[in-house]
Amino acid sequence: MEMIKLIKGDITKLEVDAIVNAANSSLMGGGGVDGAIHRAAGPSLHEECKEIIKKIGKLPTGEAVITGAGNLKCRYVIHTVGPIWQGGNFDEEKLLRNAYVNSLKIAKEKGIRSIAFPNISTGVYGFPKDLASDIAISAVREFLEKNPEIQQVIFVCFDEENYEIYKKKLHPNE
Ligand code: APR
Repeated sequence: MEMIKLIKGDITKLEVDAIVNAANSSLMGGGGVDGAIHRAAGPSLHEECKEIIKKIGKLPTGEAVITGAGNLKCRYVIHTVGPIWQGGNFDEEKLLRNAYVNSLKIAKEKGIRSIAFPNISTGVYGFPKDLASDIAISAVREFLEKNPEIQQVIFVCFDEENYEIYKKKLHPNE
């Protein structure tokens, strides 16, 4: 099976072990992929997130937590908070890498074999897409080299711009 896959589409439709949500620190849902995941999962996801927030207060940028998936086809949702782009001098690159690595660490701990990522921070949070794709691809490749337990990572691009960027980097000859 191909270790790293690229698809264009809606992450809420995937039948993988886990999908990653580009959440905010409140975990109370929002727009973009966060809104789509909560809508598709149903209210049980919001309830689980509320329980987590009761315990931790808020989810710091770059950190990740795992919940069930409600009505979604996948088994788990890993919620992570990407950095808001502020020009690049506020550790945004490190924090975005952390969001990918911490999501993968949780997946490994949980025995998850297939995990799908959206293009974290590149929507509302305004992170430059090309730079974000370099960070995402290198973080995932490095993690997979050391952790073969994760058998497949899928990059799910919803918008054309991200898809073209990832395609150039992952399938340069096509
Ligand atoms: N499936 C996959 N990807 C999606 C979907 C979907 N159904 N809907 C949107 N996306 C993509 C966007 O096209 C973008 O490339 O997710 C990527 C991330 O964009 P946002 O969802 O805006 O996430 P982000 O930039 O990380 O901002 C997070 O937005 O929705 C709020 O509550 C969220 O406050 C948080 C902030």
